[in-house]
Amino acid sequence: MSRLIIVSNRLPVSLDATEDGSYSLRQNVGGLATALGPYHKAHRDCLWVGWSGISPHQCSQEDLQDIQQAYKDRRCLPIFLSQEEIDGYYDGFSNNTLWPLFHDFSHEAQFNPDDWDMYQTVNRRFAQALEPIINKDDTIWIQDYHLMLLPQMLRKRFPEVSIGWFLHIPFPSEEIFRSLPWSREILEGVLSANLLGFHTTDFVSSFIASVGRIFPESSVNQDGLIEMPDGHHAAVDAFPIGIDYNLYARTSRSGLAQDMRRGIEFSAGKSKSHFHSFMSAEGDAAAEAASQEGSWWSHHHLEDQPELDLSRSATASINQKENKIIVSVDRLDYTKGLPERLKAFGLMLEKYPEWTGHVTYYLLATPSREDVASYRELKAQVDELVGRINGRFSLLAWTPIHYITRSLSIKPVCGIYAAGDVALVTPLRDGMNLVAKEYLACHDGREGSLVLSNMCGAADELTDAFIVNPYDIDMVCEALHKALEISPQEACARNVRMQARLKVRTAANWSQTFLETLRQVTTAGMSEKRI
Ligand code: ADP
Ligand code: G6P
Repeated sequence: MSRLIIVSNRLPVSLDATEDGSYSLRQNVGGLATALGPYHKAHRDCLWVGWSGISPHQCSQEDLQDIQQAYKDRRCLPIFLSQEEIDGYYDGFSNNTLWPLFHDFSHEAQFNPDDWDMYQTVNRRFAQALEPIINKDDTIWIQDYHLMLLPQMLRKRFPEVSIGWFLHIPFPSEEIFRSLPWSREILEGVLSANLLGFHTTDFVSSFIASVGRIFPESSVNQDGLIEMPDGHHAAVDAFPIGIDYNLYARTSRSGLAQDMRRGIEFSAGKSKSHFHSFMSAEGDAAAEAASQEGSWWSHHHLEDQPELDLSRSATASINQKENKIIVSVDRLDYTKGLPERLKAFGLMLEKYPEWTGHVTYYLLATPSREDVASYRELKAQVDELVGRINGRFSLLAWTPIHYITRSLSIKPVCGIYAAGDVALVTPLRDGMNLVAKEYLACHDGREGSLVLSNMCGAADELTDAFIVNPYDIDMVCEALHKALEISPQEACARNVRMQARLKVRTAANWSQTFLETLRQVTTAGMSEKRI
């Protein structure tokens, strides 16, 4: 039986060691898991291979067997990496070299030969784990920047097997890519796949330019078929990733998401009821995320409400502004432009004081890759900026920014999206950005404005959003102000056009298109070889 084997650094779920010595499985956050998770769930012939998220030294032999079984039940094959491998391959070469370089943060990129060695070692470990399970009729779909050497390693052992590779992050300009001391090896690694996919045609062009520069003897035809000097062909194309639109639209209408939404609206002074249902929805969400104590709403006791109302009516008598809510959902990553975004929000409060007491920003930002120094520094910077803005602009019973660092599951996330009059999605660089698409799905058939960075793949598709340069604080501030003021009719009209596209270009459509193209190019390649 032919199967699809997805291979990525992370599995859709990771394992966490808990303090009482047991383990818990956690849903992974990030575009890759969101996009491929539903496909894997729906296809029984699909196996997912990836890192377990835990070091084998952390568990006994008995535990290891239970863990492997738990993953097997979910059609996943875990790969266990030692701490040294995680340091060099994941924190090091993947997240301290390739991630910053590919996101145009070359100044953050570190070129450490030991990390490169470990990257090769771990790619080989993946190849070794796959070799015994691959059948010649299987399709192997390798994901992302962590495993760029794997196509070549597998190709050597399986000359006929169909291999696809998709990059979930941007591909940098040829000049930037060339600065990587191992750029040649990386290209050789991925070019052994039959099909290479990117989010946008710009990334495809940058990739082709890099191949042309590093391998002047290669050629590329008009259909994006690259021919290497050894006669090997690799097809290259853009496959913009989508979301499961119906899932987000439906989930945003679920009881829990709606309770969250009403609670947020209450807390932002938009409505006066539903506080109790919010409290219980937030409680459910907290239990679901199995997260830390001391939730962000704990200082909002019911007894505080008269004070809250008094202060609001005080500001309301100065101006008649309707209260509004801004939302954003991110991993805490320096590519997401959080400090710039916060500065733009602060500037708007300063420039348009009529918003004082009338706009609340729900900022959901979950810590990510905390073993990498630049991520820890960013967290400190965001903490400080939130504190500064809240300290400077807060009223007695109004706090401009609700800052949440827990990881929430899909229902509360959809509740947050649904509550947002405006979503502020301003990455400095992003391959696609699924958050922008999820927000629109959660506003299916209704208003809600999207302020979107021109530096992400999604900006090519969501042209009716308020498109901004995320580095231009003034521009983001003005767009935010306009997006908050826009009429519901205009917001709806903009959304309808974007939503129509998102309903068709879904995650399922993306994987089907990629896999169908892979099937075609592999078949064409085989018949060529036979001739
Ligand atoms: P990236 O892949 O770089 O994290 P994307 O915007 O493409 O960025 O995808 C992020 C995915 O992870 C989305 O599905 C989003 O809903 C989810 N996500 C991001 N941050 C959080 C968070 N703090 N809590 C829960 N889900 C999150
Ligand atoms: C991006 C990458 C994914 C990664 C995700 C979360 O979406 O493209 O490969 O899984 O970020 O990052 P993490 O390092 O936690 O896996």
